Amino acid sequence: MHEFDPGYALEPYATLARSYPGPEVYPAEDFRIEWGPIFHRGRLDGTARVLVLGQDPAAHEAIARRILVGTAGRRFQGFLGKLGIDTSYVMINTYLYSVYGQHAGNAHATDPDIALHRHAWLDALTGHNPIQAVIALGSLADTAFHTWRKTPAGAAFTGAYQHVLHPTYPDSAAASGADPVEAMTKLLTSWNTALDALHGTVTADTDRPLVRYGSILTAADLATIPEADLPPGLPAWMRSDEPWAARKGATSAEKRATITVRIPEDLRPF
Ligand code: URA
Repeated sequence: MHEFDPGYALEPYATLARSYPGPEVYPAEDFRIEWGPIFHRGRLDGTARVLVLGQDPAAHEAIARRILVGTAGRRFQGFLGKLGIDTSYVMINTYLYSVYGQHAGNAHATDPDIALHRHAWLDALTGHNPIQAVIALGSLADTAFHTWRKTPAGAAFTGAYQHVLHPTYPDSAAASGADPVEAMTKLLTSWNTALDALHGTVTADTDRPLVRYGSILTAADLATIPEADLPPGLPAWMRSDEPWAARKGATSAEKRATITVRIPEDLRPF
């Protein structure tokens, strides 16, 4: 038997999935709208206790049609595991579409038209789940959370809140010249602070003693994306700890138009 995510058939999510904004709200020069909106990952059945607010979908998410399934997702799945949260979570992103260009993410951080649909999701999720904690990944998600806090439903939220560095912060910091080891230590220090604040505050699915991060991220700190989080029939390698999707192209237009999908060598049945 295989578990799968049934999607958005039930309200209030059916209406949210039907009424997503397009290029009139998300300009095509700033967002990869051509890959479609990607809404969430995790429970929509009223059992989520942790709400994760990510940033924007990337290549893996565009194929799997659920958010946070690539490197960032696998890293953060490990964080949730350390809290004992194996299934009782739900994740949405700050943006429905992948950000295109370095400044686009910041430029739309407080865009009220973009916030409208995001607030509808946050209202639905906090209204239909016993959310004990919201965790924002990165500064754009932190801004999104505080923008929602100014709305009536946001102001009524009484759970815990943690803002942590984004899971791929070390990768972007290293790409801008930072020391990769130091950048990873900075991420893990941020995550340890959040673990200390939330372990025991959030009701675990599985009680486990808190194992904090060391100064480097180890294989044991990662977790596989659960089968129940993805649409039916997606192959197991799409949930593995190895990357399988990447944007490719000789020109920026080709790269924007192309995602290559490649089964990791050790996961092929041939
Ligand atoms: N993928 C997502 O869906 N969200 C992030 O924040 C990062 C990668």
